[in-house]
Amino acid sequence: MESSKTNGKSIKAGTELVRIPIDMLYEGLSLSQDIYDINGDVVLLYRDSTLDKEQLDKLKNYGKSANTDSVSVSVKIYRGLMERYLSCKISDPEELEAKSGYADMVVEMRSMADYVRLNEEIPHDIVGRLSEMIIKILGNMSYGDILDLVNIPADAEAYFSRHSVNAALLSGLIGKWMGLSEGDVNFLSLVGLLHDCGKLVLPDSIIKTSRSLTYVEFEVVKMHSIYGYELLSEYSDGVKYGVRDHHERLDAGGYPDGIAGGSVSLAARVVSIADLYAAIVANRPWRAALSPFHALSHLEAFADIKFDSDIVEIFKNNILEQLQGRPVQLSDGTLGVVEEMNSKDLEYPYVRIGGLEGNIVKTYGEFFCEGIYFGPIVSE
Ligand SMILES: [Fe+2]
Repeated sequence: MESSKTNGKSIKAGTELVRIPIDMLYEGLSLSQDIYDINGDVVLLYRDSTLDKEQLDKLKNYGKSANTDSVSVSVKIYRGLMERYLSCKISDPEELEAKSGYADMVVEMRSMADYVRLNEEIPHDIVGRLSEMIIKILGNMSYGDILDLVNIPADAEAYFSRHSVNAALLSGLIGKWMGLSEGDVNFLSLVGLLHDCGKLVLPDSIIKTSRSLTYVEFEVVKMHSIYGYELLSEYSDGVKYGVRDHHERLDAGGYPDGIAGGSVSLAARVVSIADLYAAIVANRPWRAALSPFHALSHLEAFADIKFDSDIVEIFKNNILEQLQGRPVQLSDGTLGVVEEMNSKDLEYPYVRIGGLEGNIVKTYGEFFCEGIYFGPIVSE
């Protein structure tokens, strides 16, 4: 992830400064940070209250004399400029994770994982704290912000903790969207949180490998459903079987028991959808995160075959509603805003590029919609 392209301009990724076209700067821009030359070495303009005409001309003259059309600005200024350019809110992932308590949840989940690995039993105090945190997020945050938390493409290394938290949040959201009681929503979140706990007692050599698994190794991984069920012996049947059956499928092609959909609990059917979506939008050692549009398209393709079509429908419609107006990045690096869904192919929504007066681009057959845009650090 060395660099990325934004509207055809290279930007530095993973650093504090971002290279932007001088044309993006405007009179009246609030300057909370300095503006640097193209390489980020020399301060061209020291921080001030607002950018005036004289200063803007100075920057343009710099561009002419240095034969460049770019300067470097802080991530904070960059985000503000992109928000203006795209006319929509761009979330700051770090801020969102810290403010919401999500970052604390990931830390708690990691300590739970360490405890289970060491003791082969569930630490009830940590699970209790995590449940409280999930209830707080589900109760206090907007659906859009919760989905942003899930859609942030984080480091593949933190996968287990983040995936468990994401599955808990999504399972809770599905419960809310289904109109279930608060108690049922919290129960679904708990099953989502614990669904993969059986993986914590599998050998590291299998769980932490980045290569594809052998047939035998995959058979071992499939045991995590049963191990999870056993670890949760002190929990209710609802939780135990929700965890045991989260890889069962409608067509009886799942595991560990290969039971048909009608016999699988609602919790397992909900968590199976949350699990799959969360896994698709996450970075994995063998592939980069895929877009929410790809995840929804995949779920829709297997609705009524592997997944409960009623739940998929509720999940899809609510997520699509939240994706409307979100900043996205297309496969050529262009940034845009989701204008409208493409009912013929969810993976390729209609995207508006070039600000409010911009063209609406049908991405189908032209550009692939890479994913939600959170800021300058993006994959190429
Ligand atoms: Fe699983």
